[in-house]
Amino acid sequence: MPNRKFVAGNWKMHGSAASIAEIVRIAAAVPSGVDVALCLPSTLIERAARAVPGFAIGGQDVHAEAKGAFTGDLAAHMLHDAGASLVIVGHSERRDGHAEADATVRAKAMAAMAAGLDVILCVGESLAVREAGAAVATVSAQLDASLPPVPVRAVAYEPIWAIGTGLIPSLADIADMHAALRARLVAAYGEAGHGVRLLYGGSVKPTNAAEIFAVADVDGALVGGASLTAADFLPIVEAAQGA
Ligand code: 13P
Repeated sequence: MPNRKFVAGNWKMHGSAASIAEIVRIAAAVPSGVDVALCLPSTLIERAARAVPGFAIGGQDVHAEAKGAFTGDLAAHMLHDAGASLVIVGHSERRDGHAEADATVRAKAMAAMAAGLDVILCVGESLAVREAGAAVATVSAQLDASLPPVPVRAVAYEPIWAIGTGLIPSLADIADMHAALRARLVAAYGEAGHGVRLLYGGSVKPTNAAEIFAVADVDGALVGGASLTAADFLPIVEAAQGA
């Protein structure tokens, strides 16, 4: 049986108090057949969680340690305490911008799950790797090295060159990558690997969501820019509902 679709928004460094109304609009319109979450800047998590009780609010990063002298970082239990129920780890903007290695991503995922947070673990290749024909091997190895011992809720395949560019891989390339990642998940977790939601991320829009959701082993999406407004995000959620 196919997995229930999961559509998560990643607001990155966008949003302020004025955005709570938009979050309320999104949460109020979510159909019953899809899991939906918004991963917000830390400053908005508590306010949003209070504004939309029962709707999944997440963070975008977490520290692997539970406490200590880590200026600017947040521990998993702090996110949970603020009302988050999930967190993204290993986004390419963290891996590249903050030099996060696979082992760090794995440690973050373990810390998040130990604190009761669901995890969306991101992997993805650069354009150079894609053009060298090494995308599947590279991303598979990245996943193997980043996966914690207990199954994560979701893995997001996000080609770096597709993020914020309007470009997406061919549907055949998405299918090939997701089949390879599913095989890695089953190798790591056995039967439970089939239940890990495999999300595609990178320039998902209302105009391309339905065709992406129709690809085998695409269980949803991690959406950046198009998750910032109800007008863009809800049609993507509805496409998942219809898939
Ligand atoms: P865009 O949807 O803006 O391309 O961002 C994708 C992404 O990085 C989600 O985590």
